[in-house]
Amino acid sequence: MTILVTGGAGFIGSNFVLDWVLGDHLQEGEAVVNLDKLTYAGNLENLKPIEGHDAHTFVHGDIGDRALVKSLFEQYKPRAVINFAAESHVDRSIHGPEDFIETNVVGTFHLLEEVRAYFASLGALDQNAFRFLHVSTDEVYGSLGSDDPAFTEGHRYEPNSPYSASKAASDHLVRAYHHTYGLPILTTNCSNNYGPYHFPEKLIPLMIVNAQAGKNLPVYGDGQQVRDWLYVKDHCSAIRRVLEAGRVGEVYNVGGWNEKPNIEIVRRVCALLDEMNPRADGKSYAQQINFVTDRPGHDRRYAIDASKIERELGWKPAETFETGIRKTVAWYLEHRGWVDNVLSGSYRDWLEKNYSVRG
Ligand code: NAD
Ligand code: TYD
Repeated sequence: MTILVTGGAGFIGSNFVLDWVLGDHLQEGEAVVNLDKLTYAGNLENLKPIEGHDAHTFVHGDIGDRALVKSLFEQYKPRAVINFAAESHVDRSIHGPEDFIETNVVGTFHLLEEVRAYFASLGALDQNAFRFLHVSTDEVYGSLGSDDPAFTEGHRYEPNSPYSASKAASDHLVRAYHHTYGLPILTTNCSNNYGPYHFPEKLIPLMIVNAQAGKNLPVYGDGQQVRDWLYVKDHCSAIRRVLEAGRVGEVYNVGGWNEKPNIEIVRRVCALLDEMNPRADGKSYAQQINFVTDRPGHDRRYAIDASKIERELGWKPAETFETGIRKTVAWYLEHRGWVDNVLSGSYRDWLEKNYSVRG
């Protein structure tokens, strides 16, 4: 048996693939085919721990490449597709939305078309077992006021950034392919993740990396925007659980009930760095905090109501914010080589070398 993962060289996808291949939840002999375009966010170094592993096949390509996707279905006959592939950074979507429409909307559409054709070719037993799991975000629900209840699965879609609008569009397509063509889909809408292999353009890794480099820690606006943080391994366990037991056609919100204002996150990261790797001058890293101009259209608050996945599927996160953030800061301190290669861009040179040899 095989599963097809898209975007498995990015932050969450690589954590998912590593856990799947190295964890004890892997069904005997079940392999992963990992299709990734290797944009700036895709990094094969993330997959080094499973280099050469029999249960992992990496394929360099685009979810929108219909001929390639079709050939992968024919060759590997996956029992499930887990779609992580996306452009994922809000600030980049503000500067240049086109790639977001291309991958998140058009790419997902092409992928769905090939899934539909493949699904139609399966016998009844295989159709019964097949799942398409679409990995989405809480940002599709828009922004909450400080006293509003957290997002449930029934919350209306009110995306505010080009990123969240493109994710909302893909969620709608996935939903339509279930209702119209009977595709056995599952959708997860998760809150902000953090943990190992997080690209240092996002808040938490950027703060760790900048602090270590003696740079400013740029906090947008007043720093009082609230995000709901989940350790990436807990997101991965939720996806495995939904894949295993989720009801076909359903949406599951995923979160850890960990709402925090950005400034509190940044201060916590600084305090952990003060403890684990103090500045030479004995001062706190918090001195490097610098309030900068706000993000246009900045959503004020996200919060996930995770009652449904807890109640129906018995899923709960293993980490609290405190245990997860400590592990994360420690991981970045222990993986300076990974950080250096990302910052210098040399992870991309290595890719080119690798792929020019492979053709
Ligand atoms: P990421 O940007 O770190 O990784 C995205 C991966 O997708 C990269 O490896 C990239 O090369 C690949 N990719 C991009 N376009 C592609 C294409 N056309 N074809 C094939 N591969 C392509 O993103 P992430 O943070 O790991 O997010 C993964 C998914 O989870 C996304 O769909 C995102 O919307 C969703 N999500 C992210 C968060 C979060 O906090 N990061 C929270 C909830 C949901
Ligand atoms: P980010 O990690 O980009 O995730 P998202 O925008 O998808 O929630 O940002 C998290 C929060 O941190 C968001 O409110 C924007 C803020 N932020 C900063 O204050 N400074 C920064 O340098 C970055 C990247 C984000």
